[in-house]
Amino acid sequence: MESEARELLKELREDHRNMAIVLDLLEAAAKQAYKGEDPDFELVAEIMRYMTVYPDAVHHPKEDIIYARLREEREDLAEGLEDVTSDHEMIATLGGRLRDDVEAVVAGAALRRDLFVDDATRYVKHLRAHMTWEEDDLFERVESMLDAEPLDFDVSEYEHIKDPVFELEIEAGFKRLMSSLPPTS
Ligand SMILES: [Fe+2]
Ligand SMILES: [Fe+2]
Repeated sequence: MESEARELLKELREDHRNMAIVLDLLEAAAKQAYKGEDPDFELVAEIMRYMTVYPDAVHHPKEDIIYARLREEREDLAEGLEDVTSDHEMIATLGGRLRDDVEAVVAGAALRRDLFVDDATRYVKHLRAHMTWEEDDLFERVESMLDAEPLDFDVSEYEHIKDPVFELEIEAGFKRLMSSLPPTS
């Protein structure tokens, strides 16, 4: 049977696939704004609310627990890991800024288009690079640690929190985002 740690890594990779889909939608909105069109700001507001309630609040904290263990157990695999938590904080800060911009627009405020394009582009770029780093390097290190020694991670604080869009498919609050997702194959 697959250990819970392997199962957890599988879930984190699944989260990345979902976040990549959502980032594509956000990037498309930024491109529209760059061309002078009005993107669906209510959709963008839902995207940023999603990023706050799931990736920032559940996905990144779970990873922080795993990376802390990796640093503790395997100094030889820990290079650069001290930067991950602050990178998660940076992602939350950039996301919070974008969410505030967009919620203000939905509430009727004028937004400088170039500001939205810059903030959204910066956010998409940063989060994509972060996920690539994890997939290509950090998750591989965690796999090596698990190959050498089976371990479990205590993520009980977050385990019960499901992804509201991709797992629970709760429409309330995420209607536009859910109807904008590409069909599943
Ligand atoms: Fe991360
Ligand atoms: Fe991640």
